[in-house]
Amino acid sequence: MTVQDDIIAKTKEYVKNTLKGAEGGHDWWHALRVWKMACRIAEEEPADRLVVELAALLHDIADSKFHDGDEEVGPRKAVAFLRQWDVPDETVKHVEMIVRNVSFKGGNEASSFGSKELDIVRDADRLDAIGAIGIARTFNYGGYKNRELYNPEIKPNLNMTKEAYKASTSPTINHFYEKLLLLKDRMHTKTGRALAEQRHRFMEQFLDEFYDEWDGKR
Ligand code: ADP
Ligand code: NI
Repeated sequence: MTVQDDIIAKTKEYVKNTLKGAEGGHDWWHALRVWKMACRIAEEEPADRLVVELAALLHDIADSKFHDGDEEVGPRKAVAFLRQWDVPDETVKHVEMIVRNVSFKGGNEASSFGSKELDIVRDADRLDAIGAIGIARTFNYGGYKNRELYNPEIKPNLNMTKEAYKASTSPTINHFYEKLLLLKDRMHTKTGRALAEQRHRFMEQFLDEFYDEWDGKR
């Protein structure tokens, strides 16, 4: 095993243990899918592979949604974990910046940090939010929050601030319009864009079917 493989194996163990009992859309399996997809995208885009893999595994180690809105816990935990091992300082700092910046949060916030590695991890995370998996995760989260599946009287809100987005209690279907259907135009890698197109079409089909069934047409 190389030193890099060893630290990745340790990170997997840590993420698996830390996310035991997490909400089903933000658990170890989400981290594992994002890692796999990030590795796939990284095959086609030259990037620092260790940074990509560690950031993908650690990106949701302490999502602020599940920590009273505290956005510092995740980056802090990721850094504290990596500092235990022989990981170069600049790698730790880069992973920290990715963990800080990966989240969507309504999509209307500007950020000053950017890197190829962030683009890769963010595209992988966004791909996991759309398509069949995205639909499953969204309804799981809605159930976790006891949201309505759909309510024709409550319209989606596309101009939410980060705070309003986080505090929103709207029906789960609205989340498709507030986030999921916007993601295909916000991909930053070639592979990400191509996969997002397919997954987007699948969600559109799902919504057509959903409304037809809702109205008793099918
Ligand atoms: P980000 O932090 O990038 O905004 P989230 O962690 O909020 O991403 O969202 C990840 C996934 O969790 C979403 O793609 C969706 O499946 C689910 N989710 C998050 N917020 C909501 C919501 N308000 N309603 C339904 N699902 C949600
Ligand atoms: Ni994520």
